[in-house]
Amino acid sequence: MLNSHSFDVLIIGSGAAGLTLALKLADKASVVVLSKFSLIAGSTYYAQGGISAVLDKSDSFQSHIEDTLNAGAGLCDEEIVKLTVSQGKQSIDWLRQQGVAFTEDISGELHLNREGGHSHRRIVHAKDATGRAMSLSLIKRAQEHSNIEILENHNVVDLITTDKFNETVDKIILGAYVLDTHNQQVKSIAARIVVLATGGASKVYLYSTNPHISTGDGIALAWRAGCHISNMEFMQFHPTCLYHPNARSFLISEAVRGEGARLILPNGQPFMSDYDAREELAPRDIVARAIDNEMKTQGIECVYLDISHKPAKFIRQHFPTIYEQCLKLEIDITKQPIPVVPAAHYTCGGVITDSNARTNIPRLYAIGEVACTGLHGANRMASNSLLECLVFAERASVDILNSLPDFPQLKVEIPKWDESQVIDSDEEVVISHNWDELRRFMWDYVGIVRTNKRLNRAMHRIELLTEEIDEYYAHFKVSSDLLELRSLVTVAELIVRCAQQRKESRGLHYTQDYPETDNSQPAKNSFLNPNDFK
Ligand code: FAD
Ligand code: SIN
Repeated sequence: MLNSHSFDVLIIGSGAAGLTLALKLADKASVVVLSKFSLIAGSTYYAQGGISAVLDKSDSFQSHIEDTLNAGAGLCDEEIVKLTVSQGKQSIDWLRQQGVAFTEDISGELHLNREGGHSHRRIVHAKDATGRAMSLSLIKRAQEHSNIEILENHNVVDLITTDKFNETVDKIILGAYVLDTHNQQVKSIAARIVVLATGGASKVYLYSTNPHISTGDGIALAWRAGCHISNMEFMQFHPTCLYHPNARSFLISEAVRGEGARLILPNGQPFMSDYDAREELAPRDIVARAIDNEMKTQGIECVYLDISHKPAKFIRQHFPTIYEQCLKLEIDITKQPIPVVPAAHYTCGGVITDSNARTNIPRLYAIGEVACTGLHGANRMASNSLLECLVFAERASVDILNSLPDFPQLKVEIPKWDESQVIDSDEEVVISHNWDELRRFMWDYVGIVRTNKRLNRAMHRIELLTEEIDEYYAHFKVSSDLLELRSLVTVAELIVRCAQQRKESRGLHYTQDYPETDNSQPAKNSFLNPNDFK
């Protein structure tokens, strides 16, 4: 064998997207799944509200399509929306076959939640911990499958493409260099097909609902390898993250608003009717901006979400995780309102893919939050993300299995990772300092409300940080923290560049310099090609 670690398919990521794909391929292909920390470290495990699917008799595909298009503010790809929405029931059926126990009502039918932007009840859920139920079932199935090798604590350093060794050949993906954090050694993994399933980039902001892993590694890896990227300006801020010094990233699900919770000011006054006729159930961009505006104009640190008018038993039954977590912090949600603030939650943009999850690099696919499929446009509707993970994992699996016979293992020996020019770092403080600085100025300058001036300020700092991080990378051995910082600064640059392309406000991108949506010409996705920045 040319390369010692060699598989048919290398899947980078063990969330809903990565594990679904692995399970769909493994009967016919050898698969390796990587996770940079534990298998449950991604956003999937923390998903609360659920998965959207048209199941209710009064609901229809057309209604789900229209709601998604409305939330996406003119930038969704309608064909992709139709395709995704049509696969809701199949996706839920498949998850149930994998052992996911969704909540049922008393008649044994799946119980459906309601969330912002949805005009019907259509969110299938496992109480308020849907992601945990999904992750645990999918992990169990994957661990049981003899054709799936799972490597935890393996952090991808870079993708390997043919042109890195021979500039005259066409670019094809060969595998990845991977840091094994058990022994800090970098190894190469070769594969006939590589799939990015690395999740989002919300950790580029100081306040985020996401777990630590969401540092946009897949987007940065793809960008360095030559992938086209789009819509990075559409970073979604979830309106209701718990505001408490001891629980920075805990989400209060939109399903709580779906069951009638009101957003109120410290004096008890509701305010959402001043912003949108749908009030608390308006799409997220509107609710998050309304809260941001109230906090800034009133000079308050948070607003409050109040569900205490509902019977205590109902609250405990529907939202046991949220109830318990708040109670630990001495907030009894059956009796008192919950302090909340918006926080970075979801990356609508990412690596551009076609309807089979292919990127512009042959044999490289992207699925889940790392990808930009065209489903979300300028604003993702609640609970469409897990659905997208499942639908595009399925699409990729069919395409990969059809393509494998045409994609033989390339007869290229991947050079070993070269550490001869680098030494152990003696200045780790540079990494932690730059992490903090980056996330803070992204929050202050590239957050919910932007201006040209703030974007320019952010870009100036990004350029300085990039120089410093590149120099550090060239001289010291890689570590997980360094790799994540390198991803974050790349992602920050892509967000700002996309935001600078957009001379209007649309969906999640709001700028005081162009406060209106430009309807004078057809809506356009922002677009970045790495070749234009060489
Ligand atoms: P993730 O689940 O984030 O997994 C990413 C994987 O990639 C991880 O295994 C990670 O270790 C691995 N990885 C990343 N970088 C590297 C690297 N360099 N090397 C190796 N491995 C790497 N969406 C909904 O539709 N419904 C909801 O109810 C919902 N609730 C949410 C609640 C919270 C608190 C959050 C944070 C998100 C929620 N979302 C929800 C969004 C949704 O959970 C995510 O978009 C989705 O789970 C992403 O799945 P994924 O498989 O793409 O990535
Ligand atoms: C939530 O439960 O509010 C999160 C749903 C989502 O992000 O889709």
